[in-house]
Amino acid sequence: MGRIAYINGRYLPQNQATVHIEDRGYNFADGVYEVIAVHNGALVDEEPHIVRLRRSLNELKIDWPVTENAFRFLMREIIRRNGLREGMIYLQITRGVAPRDHAFPKDSQSSLMMTTRRSKPFNADEIAKGVRVITIPDIRWKRNDIKSISLLGNVLGKQQAREAGAYEAWMFDENGDVTEGTSSNAWIVSKEGELVTRQLSNAILSGITRLTVLKLAEEKGIKFVERAFSIEETQSAKEAFLTSTTSFVKPIVQIDDKQVADGKAGPLCRALLDRYGSYMDEDISSP
Ligand code: PDD
Repeated sequence: MGRIAYINGRYLPQNQATVHIEDRGYNFADGVYEVIAVHNGALVDEEPHIVRLRRSLNELKIDWPVTENAFRFLMREIIRRNGLREGMIYLQITRGVAPRDHAFPKDSQSSLMMTTRRSKPFNADEIAKGVRVITIPDIRWKRNDIKSISLLGNVLGKQQAREAGAYEAWMFDENGDVTEGTSSNAWIVSKEGELVTRQLSNAILSGITRLTVLKLAEEKGIKFVERAFSIEETQSAKEAFLTSTTSFVKPIVQIDDKQVADGKAGPLCRALLDRYGSYMDEDISSP
């Protein structure tokens, strides 16, 4: 069965779903997006994703293309029409179609599209094998808290990682502190044994997986601190890992040329990975 996409009120085979050449998403990357995991045919962490989407839209003064209730229905419908069990929804809202002019158009209707993608079911042992990251300067704009489709800095960073044979690139700011990965949040367990991830600010995206992992750590009685950490500090870290909707909780076994600890997934990361797997089984939005 071919994939079905939703675009501005219509469900179409994905290869026939197209947008207008004057859509501001296409001309200016004037839009926002979300990636939401689907597990057992249901959305994972639906509510926080909607809260973040609402915030991104508000920050950019883009109107909801449909009511929030209709939006929730459409997400379920795209899952149903694609028979999706394991994978994700990608959705994008742009400021809509208007003759090209940088300033906001007076009365454009925002555009909404949704697609789905299948993936292999969550497999903790597979994920626990770990990945390598490289470190690069963060060259992005100053509003990385908005989940905007303007991702050129992230695209260039991920390409650098790919060319270096690494899974991800950790970006660092002018102080040499890690901001985040190009499509994930960054974590370490410091040499003192504390779980660390950078505090929320305009420098990073408030990852939903990050929030959930913090919640799960708290429930498990694992102490954590939200603060910046430097590239230098990662060199002596006991553990390092990344989180995102599509990578879950993924151990990092090498940063640039330096192996992290013994080069295997650390115990804290493994515990959080396993707990995240069971959380996805429990925290399922109503179908
Ligand atoms: N990326 N930081 C950045 C820059 C991201 O693009 C992402 C997500 C995250 C993690 O956020 P979350 O836990 O909500 O997925 C952090 C998505 C998956 C993407 O662009 O494909």
